Amino acid sequence: MRYLLVLTVAVAACDRAPHGSASAAVTADTSFRAPDGSAVPGGELGRSIRRGHAILAATRDSLPSHVGSTLRCTSCHLGDGRQKDAIPLTGAYARYPRYGARAAAIQRIEDRINDCLLRSLNGSALAFDDPAMRDIVVYLAFISRGVPVGDTGRGVPGGPAAGDAVAGAQVFRSHCARCHGAEGAGIAPVPPLWGSRSFNIGAGMARVRTAAAFIRHNMPLDRAGSLTDLDALNVAAYVTSRPRPDFAGKERDWPRGDAPPDAPYTTLGGRRSPQ
Ligand code: HEC
Ligand code: HEC
Repeated sequence: MRYLLVLTVAVAACDRAPHGSASAAVTADTSFRAPDGSAVPGGELGRSIRRGHAILAATRDSLPSHVGSTLRCTSCHLGDGRQKDAIPLTGAYARYPRYGARAAAIQRIEDRINDCLLRSLNGSALAFDDPAMRDIVVYLAFISRGVPVGDTGRGVPGGPAAGDAVAGAQVFRSHCARCHGAEGAGIAPVPPLWGSRSFNIGAGMARVRTAAAFIRHNMPLDRAGSLTDLDALNVAAYVTSRPRPDFAGKERDWPRGDAPPDAPYTTLGGRRSPQ
């Protein structure tokens, strides 16, 4: 796939520029095995799995009218949604339907996919019976095979709900700007971290805890795991303090008053006290 090839080349270039030598841990993912001919069943089901996989990896090209950012699903769900500690989607199919506190409603997996389209991709929802939605669900079901229904998953681990954005700006300049750009706007195909083409304020990644956990485990992409907990927290505080698109209706999130301490906006229901 041309897009993926370009990305690999760009990341390799990022890696070489400031350090001179190619790192052994260059790629985002070492555990993922792309569904190959032996794992993916044949026939119509196999074609649907492959289309779903392609939508996750080239979301904007696949769904131009539903994506408002320059991110793709696998900008965050690294390794085609199968990478440990990178918000894995493996098993997601077995976790729905379930209650979601942010919506205070039972969510089907299609609702949860639409949450990411609306917030993480700053786009618009797909109809449940849209063929693209069906293909996404089919792919998620495929990578959830063997996971028991009712699996609760790992989720994003907790941690401090606030960091030092001033200290984080320095971490950003030293460790992130070479790929994501000095203004966080991304250098295609590396996605933006803030600004008009990024995820919106309603996205999970706009929360300090979620961003810190993702960054701690996965960024810098070519040196995953190299930041200290404090540097990851502070750079997450900096990134989440930067301007990004609004999300209309965000004040209606967590209507039962259980907004987490790092929710980056005020809700009508109020928030839990920091723990
Ligand atoms: C900006 C980062 C980002 C992007 C882009 C993104 N997501 Fe997500 N996604 C998240 C975060 C954060 C969560 C919440 C993880 C948690 O609650 O533990 C999540 C959760 C999910 C879940 C629920 C997982 C579970 O086990 O409950 C699904 C399904 C999902 N995303 C699908 C998608 C799809 C499909 C796309 C592309 C259309 C997408 N996401 C794009 C960040 C992102
Ligand atoms: C070697 C290049 C590189 C470096 C350095 C790097 N990133 Fe990334 N980052 C990427 C790429 C590429 C992606 C998207 C992965 C994909 O599409 O497969 C990404 C994705 C992300 C995402 C989720 C998607 C988005 O755009 O919001 C966040 C958050 C992020 N990086 C934060 C950081 C932070 C913070 C640092 C510094 C500590 C950093 N990155 C350093 C290349 C890099």
